[in-house]
Amino acid sequence: MVTPVIEVRDLEKIYPDGTRAVRGISFEVEEGEFFGFLGPNGAGKSTTIKILITLLRKTGGTVRIMGLDVSRQTDAIRRVIGYAAQEVGVDDDLTARENLMLQGELYHMERTLLRQRTDELLELMDLASDADRLAGSFSGGMRKRLDLATGLMHRPRLLFLDEPTTGLDPQNRANLWIYLDRLNKQEKLTIFLTTHYMEEADKLCNRLAIIDHGQIKTLGSPRQLKQELGGDVIALRFATNGQDVTTQAQQACAVLSGAPFVANIDRFDEGINVYAQNGGSVVPDVLRLLDDAGVHVTQLSLTSPSLDDVFLKHTGYKIRDEELDRNWRNQRGGPFGRRRR
Ligand SMILES: Nc1ncnc2c1ncn2[C@@H]1O[C@H](COP(=O)(O)OP(=O)(O)O)[C@@H](O)[C@H]1O
Ligand SMILES: [Mg+2]
Repeated sequence: MVTPVIEVRDLEKIYPDGTRAVRGISFEVEEGEFFGFLGPNGAGKSTTIKILITLLRKTGGTVRIMGLDVSRQTDAIRRVIGYAAQEVGVDDDLTARENLMLQGELYHMERTLLRQRTDELLELMDLASDADRLAGSFSGGMRKRLDLATGLMHRPRLLFLDEPTTGLDPQNRANLWIYLDRLNKQEKLTIFLTTHYMEEADKLCNRLAIIDHGQIKTLGSPRQLKQELGGDVIALRFATNGQDVTTQAQQACAVLSGAPFVANIDRFDEGINVYAQNGGSVVPDVLRLLDDAGVHVTQLSLTSPSLDDVFLKHTGYKIRDEELDRNWRNQRGGPFGRRRR
């Protein structure tokens, strides 16, 4: 049997103030995978990643990185992994090339190899034509690409990324996805990424875990997780009509849960999601059943399931990107800027 690149068993982290940030999680990542940790702010993503890269001590459980024990073989692990923090760690007063060269020198890379690897990464990240410009003059997206490249100088086989696109505008975010995908495929790099963006996890990851309150709620490929919902999503919203929406939603659940064509129902604040195969053909039946029961539908939409629906199913609430972005801006930056050790 092949040893997994990442092996986590019953991992637990309780901070000194008593916060139980990680509550007994287990998962494995195989060589070559692009694995995602998807969850809202405070879910325990950064705590987990910091333990995996040996920057934070765990409270319980076992973690092996390429067969190495995180508690006892920290140096060996640090040599084979790369890490890019939430905050960009490039030096603005150096050119792109100088940033890379300096990083390689920190790893005591041999001179010829150092030059070669620098050129290779500048090329890979489409920074070759800007190699001799100061990083301080780069756009946000370019700085992030340079930051990624510095983390790859020592040719790690495994790369950890903590919310790599948080703080980038949607265009730069989508642009960075191309490079991350390229690293995974061309450099055959195993990537462990955390994110609170559903679309990002959906686009990039072969497999992902949804994490909330320090626990893994579900794990699988995006396609698998969506299929498990049981078909198309019919999202329903209700009129208040004197009654409150909750009562209407409860009534709708009661009526529809008995219907043979309904695979699953999720309730949330604004309404309900009904899952059914061939959603389009059952919509008239759904409406008729609800009308007969006196439930007034004000809005109906029919979609294929998305990761948002998966998330909602397993956590009971929706993740709101704008809100999370705002929180993120208010947080202080990560303590692990590569240059500031
Ligand atoms: N150094 C710390 N001491 C105490 N609690 C912490 C510390 N760092 C994080 N936490 C708490 O642990 C939980 C998980 O945090 P974190 O791993 O940063 O989540 P995420 O990266 O998913 O946003 C949160 O409740 C957070 O407030
Ligand atoms: Mg975090």
